[in-house]
Amino acid sequence: MPAIVIVGAQWGDEGKGKATDLLGSRIDYVVKFNGGNNAGHTVVIGDEKYALHLLPSGILTDGVVPVIANGVVIDIEVLFHELAALTARGVDVSKLVVSANAHVITQYHRTLDKVTERFLGKRQIGTTGRGIGPSYADKINRVGIRIQDLFDENILRQKVEGALHQKNQLLVKLYNRRAISVDEIVADLLSYTERLRPLVADTGLLLNQALDAGKTVLFEGGQATMLDVDHGTYPFVTSSSSTAGGASTGSGIGPGRIERVIGIVKAYTTRVGSGPFPTELLDESGEYLRAKGFEFGTTTGRPRRTGWYDAPVARYSARVNGVTDFVMTKLDVLSGLEKIPVCVAYEVDGVRVEEVPVSQSDFHHAVPIYEEFPGWQEDISAARSFDDLPRNAQDYVLAIEAISGCRISAIGVGPERDAIVVRHDLLN
Ligand code: IMP
Repeated sequence: MPAIVIVGAQWGDEGKGKATDLLGSRIDYVVKFNGGNNAGHTVVIGDEKYALHLLPSGILTDGVVPVIANGVVIDIEVLFHELAALTARGVDVSKLVVSANAHVITQYHRTLDKVTERFLGKRQIGTTGRGIGPSYADKINRVGIRIQDLFDENILRQKVEGALHQKNQLLVKLYNRRAISVDEIVADLLSYTERLRPLVADTGLLLNQALDAGKTVLFEGGQATMLDVDHGTYPFVTSSSSTAGGASTGSGIGPGRIERVIGIVKAYTTRVGSGPFPTELLDESGEYLRAKGFEFGTTTGRPRRTGWYDAPVARYSARVNGVTDFVMTKLDVLSGLEKIPVCVAYEVDGVRVEEVPVSQSDFHHAVPIYEEFPGWQEDISAARSFDDLPRNAQDYVLAIEAISGCRISAIGVGPERDAIVVRHDLLN
C-alpha cells in the first residue's frame, strides 16, 4: 500500500489521531504536510494523555519515522519544547526528520498575527495567534525564512533584514509597536542550528525513496477541509492547504501515489474561531455537546462552537478530498439523547439547497434542514464490533453513511486508543 492521506472533513478537531492509531503498526512513515503549531491532537495511551501541537501524532508509535515536510511552518522553540516534553516521558523521538524547505515561524510572525487580528476588529478570524498566517504570507511573498537558511549565517541575516525592512515600518508606524531587531532574530534562530542539523533532510527525496521501496507512508493533515485556504470558508480559514491535495505539494510526492484518502468526521460538528457554521447550537444542546464531548481547544483552550452533524459538509469534503473512507469519531458523546437531529440540506432564501453553497454570503445565512433520528441510552464505549452497538446507534451511522458521500469504515466510541469499531479495513 503506497501513500495514504488522513484529513479532517469538518472544521478541525475531528480526532484524526484515532485513525492514525488504527493504522498503527502498518505504517512506516507519518508525515505532517501543512500547518504548524496551530494544530492540536490529543492522544490517549493507557493512562497517559499527550497533547501535540506541532509534531505528527505518529511520533508516539514505535517503529514509525515521523516527518515534518516542506508544507509545514515551524516554530523552532515549540519544536524543541515538544520533543523535550516527550523525551521526559520516555518517548523515543530520535527518528524525527525535518524538511530543509519548511518555513520558520519567528517572533515577528507571532507579533503580526496578534496585532493584525486586533486591527480587524469585528472581522477578525479568531486565529490561534501562533504566527501561522504571517509565516505563510511571507512564504507566498517570497520573503520567508526556511530551515535551510539557518545553516548559512550570511544568507540568514540578509533574509531576515529583507523581511523586517517592511514589517518594522508596519509595526512602528501603523501598529504602534516597537521595531524588531535583525540581530535579535538572527541570534535566536542561530541558537537552534546545531540542534537542528541532525534532524534536517531532503524529505521529498526521502519519502519518494520510501514509497519506491514499498513502504507505507501516512500523510496526516493538520486542521481540516473547511479551514483549507482554497476550499474552506474563506476568509475564515487557516493559511495552508489542509485538503488531500496539500499532501502532494506539502511533501513533494506525486498525486498519483495517493491511493487512500481517509476523512475524519465527528458524529456532530465543532468549530473554533469565527466564520459560518450553519448547524451551530447556541442553546443548551450546544452546551451539552461541549461539556460531554469536552470540546475545548487543545491549542488555545477556547471553548469550541458546537452543532449537529452537517451532511452537506461531509459530502463536500468527500468530493474535494476524494475521500475513500470516513472514520466517524465520538459517537459515544451522543449516547443519552432522545432524538438526534442531522442536517440533510439547507434552505437559502427560501430555496432548498443540497450542496454547500459556493457563495460566501449564501453559506453565512444557510438555514439547516434537519431530519431527526431516535437516540439510544446505552453506554457504547465497550463496543468493539458494529453488532455490539445498540440498534438506534447502528441506524444513525447507516443513515449518515447514506447521505455523506462515502462509506463509514470505523467508528470511535471512547477516548482510549482501542475504543473503536471497525467495519471495513481502511487500506482495502
Ligand atoms: P490560524 O491557523 O491560527 O491562522 O487560525 C485560522 C483559523 O483556523 C481559526 O479559526 C482557528 O481557530 C482555526 N484553526 C487553526 N488550527 C486549528 C485546529 O487544529 N483545529 C481547529 N481549528 C483550527
